[in-house]
Amino acid sequence: MTILLTGIDGYMGWPTALKLSQEFPEERIIGVDNFARRKWVGECGSDSVVPIYSMKERLKAAREHGFENISFVEGDLTNKDFVDRIISTHKPEVVLHLAAQPSAPYSQINGERAVFTQKNTVLSNANLLWSLKEHGLTDTHFIETTTTGIYGAPNIRIGEGFVKVVDEEGNSDVLPFPNIASSWYHVSRGFGAANMMLMNMQIGMPCTDVRTSIVYGIATEETALDERLATRYDIDFYFGTLFNRWCAMMIINHPLTIYGSGRQIKPFISLEDTATSLVKIVKKGNEGKYEVYNQLVEYVRIKDMAEWMNHTAEKLFGRAPGIEYIPNPRKEKEESEYSFENENFLKVLGKPKHESMQETLPEVLEKLKRYEDRIRAYRDRLIPKKR
Ligand SMILES: NC(=O)c1ccc[n+]([C@@H]2O[C@H](COP(=O)([O-])OP(=O)(O)OC[C@H]3O[C@@H](n4cnc5c(N)ncnc54)[C@H](O)[C@@H]3O)[C@@H](O)[C@H]2O)c1
Repeated sequence: MTILLTGIDGYMGWPTALKLSQEFPEERIIGVDNFARRKWVGECGSDSVVPIYSMKERLKAAREHGFENISFVEGDLTNKDFVDRIISTHKPEVVLHLAAQPSAPYSQINGERAVFTQKNTVLSNANLLWSLKEHGLTDTHFIETTTTGIYGAPNIRIGEGFVKVVDEEGNSDVLPFPNIASSWYHVSRGFGAANMMLMNMQIGMPCTDVRTSIVYGIATEETALDERLATRYDIDFYFGTLFNRWCAMMIINHPLTIYGSGRQIKPFISLEDTATSLVKIVKKGNEGKYEVYNQLVEYVRIKDMAEWMNHTAEKLFGRAPGIEYIPNPRKEKEESEYSFENENFLKVLGKPKHESMQETLPEVLEKLKRYEDRIRAYRDRLIPKKR
């Protein structure tokens, strides 16, 4: 079997490559990336606070640790000729598509970034799907990590991809959940979801849409083996995700900044469980359906999360950074009671390694402490510039 993993250089991609290699040592894992994430973070004046190595050094270290079946091709997935070349050369049985511009705030900077984000996401997705079809690889399992952000923040329980709708005459149907995302990035992921459903409907290509929640954590079992195997860890306003940014704030005693009321609820999953579940989805396969998983383990109210993180800092470091409310730079619902179904997802994942962020926090801080100087160096990137 050949597994094509796009976005291999990314925060989730690299740990997933190592886990895939561990789980499928006899198969071929072909990673693709154009190193755009390194460039985008640099453009925003920041860098991964956990130093990351070049792909060449990563692969060398991987081989030394027994992950011997990963190879790499550099290229841009928005280029159909490039996509055709890798698909026709490698004829993958599985495509695990993680490549995207993944930052909502970056997509909101200006029109150029909004259009770029949508082009990058939609063209990469459509190029891969069409290239598979045009090369006769219609049984290839296409898996893409989209986002729970597609669902917006409705006051109803969010099913895994679908919602039952009843009209005024009492007729009912189960329909794809509408794309009510709140950023140009999040909306772009809804296109990918619709394209997968369409390709499945038209030719029966097995497509799995993994609605990824906010991923947190600094390492996985495999990336922790060697500093050359580390994955990136961003703390800046544009690319750092919530828990990870707040952990960096705790290290340097910077107040935990809450956007708006803090009454928003957000879903989370650890990096370890993210990568493990993606490997399990590959292993499970898909019998020609369009399947959707809500890839999350818990959901919490932001205000509550800040309070227990603040309290933990006091317990661990003897000082609490405090909590600061700042005007919400995002246009989003300030309050919602929404909740998610994730039963199908948990059936695939099994028991999560990290049941809660609260439980995992000391372990993340312990590892992050080593990079205190780098966090201080990028301290001014932690919060939005215009307030
Ligand atoms: N990390 C999260 O919290 C989270 C949450 C929800 C969804 N996701 C989604 O999961 C996927 C992986 O996220 P991540 O955090 O690892 O992001 P990431 O930016 O670290 O990884 C994406 C990788 O794709 C590469 N890439 C982007 N555009 C490309 C192109 N046109 N051609 C080739 N390579 C390209 C980037 O260089 C990067 O290495 C993304 O699709 C993201 O939107 C992530």
